[in-house]
Amino acid sequence: MKQFLDLGEFLDHAWSLLTRGVADPKSVAKNPTFSTVSEEGFPTMRTVVLRRADRIANCLEVHTDIQTNKVFSLKKNNLAGLHIWIPKAKFQIRASVVVDILTGSKVEDQWNKIPIQSRVSYGSKPSPGIEINGPFDYKKLPEQDNFAILRCDIRELDLLYLGALHQRALYKTGDPAISTWVAP
Ligand SMILES: Cc1cc2nc3c(=O)[nH]c(=O)nc-3n(C[C@H](O)[C@H](O)[C@H](O)COP(=O)(O)O)c2cc1C
Repeated sequence: MKQFLDLGEFLDHAWSLLTRGVADPKSVAKNPTFSTVSEEGFPTMRTVVLRRADRIANCLEVHTDIQTNKVFSLKKNNLAGLHIWIPKAKFQIRASVVVDILTGSKVEDQWNKIPIQSRVSYGSKPSPGIEINGPFDYKKLPEQDNFAILRCDIRELDLLYLGALHQRALYKTGDPAISTWVAP
């Protein structure tokens, strides 16, 4: 029966799951749910691919098309959330983040690393979410100008482990930073 006796060890485990999510296509942590707040105030969720998990920088990264609704929402309200449930590990990770939308020359290196055939994910005509007459009345074109990296600066991690004994902890950045077990 796995138990975590130490807050640091619990956090290490979460980061190892996040790191695996980026590297391993089979990991379910590859596809977090990314949540923003719409102009009307609704929480809006969608599946994304986790592209980077950097513990030192305390950030997670997602790639997207700047024409998407999530980007419009983030321009109005850059507070967002990421959620991952990893059944095998019995581990839920929730991150409250502040998002920086990086485009243009700041993302040129990453754009160049994207395989040609995958670049079509960043450029849709008409824009994603626009009404079309038939199901295939759209084009997917690789558009570097549409490519954005959502750099998610982590402000809070809420970790839950559903082992034989449930465990939950919060880690908040700030001065002072807070790490504490909480009732699950
Ligand atoms: C498995 C999977 C992975 C996805 N990855 C991304 C992604 O990395 N970035 C992205 O913008 N959309 C991704 N999508 C599409 C989004 O879920 C969503 O449909 C799209 O981004 C439009 O969302 P929005 O209108 O809320 O911005 C993915 C969808 C699935 C099912």
